[in-house]
Amino acid sequence: MNKHRLAIIAGDGIGKEVIPAGLNVLRAAAEVCGFQFEVEDFPWGCDHYLRTGRMMDEDGLERLRDFPAIYLGAIGDPARVPDHISLRDLLIKIRQSFDQYINLRPIKLLAGTQSPLRGKGASEIDFVCVRENSEGEYCGWGGRLRQGTPDEVAEQTVVFTRRGVERVLRYAFDLARQRRNRLASATKSNAMQYTMVMWDDICREVARGYPDVTVTPYHVDALAARFVLQPESLDVVVGSNLFGDILTDLGGALQGSLGIPASANLNPERRFPSLFEPVHGSAPDIARRGIANPTAAIWAGAMMLEHLGEKDAAVLVMNALERALEIGRVRTPDLGGSNSTVEMAAEVITLIKRAMAI
Ligand code: NAI
Ligand code: MG
Repeated sequence: MNKHRLAIIAGDGIGKEVIPAGLNVLRAAAEVCGFQFEVEDFPWGCDHYLRTGRMMDEDGLERLRDFPAIYLGAIGDPARVPDHISLRDLLIKIRQSFDQYINLRPIKLLAGTQSPLRGKGASEIDFVCVRENSEGEYCGWGGRLRQGTPDEVAEQTVVFTRRGVERVLRYAFDLARQRRNRLASATKSNAMQYTMVMWDDICREVARGYPDVTVTPYHVDALAARFVLQPESLDVVVGSNLFGDILTDLGGALQGSLGIPASANLNPERRFPSLFEPVHGSAPDIARRGIANPTAAIWAGAMMLEHLGEKDAAVLVMNALERALEIGRVRTPDLGGSNSTVEMAAEVITLIKRAMAI
C-alpha cells in the first residue's frame, strides 16, 4: 500500500483545531482510496518559543528536509510574541530555505458560499493566482540612515533575477495549459521601467514556447479592478511577490470568508518539501472555542493530496467539501451557522464515505 510521509505543524491558535480536523478528512479519503499517511508532529510555534526561546528546534529544517510535504495550520500569538519574530523564524525560514518559490492560491467560489461581489457566483469566480515567493520586493535588502532625525533616509531594494522571473512565469504558463489557456501577467512597466520591463520581456520570451496560451499583461492597478469587475475573464494570474501578495488578499476576499481560502508554497522540482496551509492566521479572537471553519485547512489538504500524486483523493475531498457547504446542514459561525470545527469535518467525512459507497 502506498504510504505518504507528512510533517505536521499545527502551530498556534486555531491552527491546533483546523489541522487535526483536516487530517481526519485526509485520512478518510486515504482509507477509501487505498493509501496511508505516516505523520510526524512538530509541536513548534509560539508556545514552543515561550518555552525554549525558539520558534522551531535548532535542527528543525534538517528534520523537515526529507518530507515530501508539510501541512501547517497557522503561526502567531500577537499578544505574547511579536509577529515579526513568529513569522520570520518559522514560516519565512521554511519558505526560503526550501526554495518554495511558487505561492499558489486558488480563487474559487465554492458551491454553497457567497461572494461579497453582487451578481457573481461560482461560475464567475474561478481562477488561480501564482505569486512569486522568493525574491522581488520582499528580498529584504535595504537600510535606514539617520533614523528618527529629520534627515532620515530609508531604502528598500527590489531584486528581480532572470532565473527567478522565468521560473515563475513558466510555472504559470504550464498551469494555464492545464486549465483554460489564459494567463494574466501583473506588471507595472509604465512606472517601473527596469524590473517590470524585464518581467514583460521575459514573459514575451517564455510565451513563444506556449503558442496555445493567450497571455495578457495588465498593469497591476487595472488588474485589481478587473478582479472585482470581471473576475470571469481570469483563468491564471501571475505576479511578483508584492503584487501577488496584494492581489491574493483581494482574491481571498472574493471567496466570502477567511475560513475558506487555501494556499500552497511549492518547490516544483521537489528538491525540498512543499508546504500547504490555510490562508488565514491563528485567529486568537476565536481560538480554543472549537468554532473555526476547517474549510481552508481541508482545501489545503486537498492541494497536498494532489502534490502527492493522489489526484482521485484530492477530487473526492473537494467534492465532499463543496457538497457539505452546498447542503448547508452543518455550518460554522463565520458562514452563519452554529456548528463546530469537528462537526464540519465530520460532515465532509460522511460525504466522502457516501460518495464511495455509491
Ligand atoms: P486571522 O486570519 O487570524 O483572523 C482574521 C479574522 O478572520 C478574525 O476575526 C478571525 O476570527 C477570522 N478567521 C480567520 N480564520 C478563520 C476560520 N478558519 N474560521 C472562522 N473565522 C476565521 O488574522 P489576524 O487576526 O490578523 O492575525 C492573527 C495572527 O495570525 C497574527 O499573529 C498573524 O501574524 C498571524 N497570521 C499568520 C498567518 C500564517 O500563519 N500563515 C497568516 C495570517 C496571519
Ligand atoms: Mg498577504
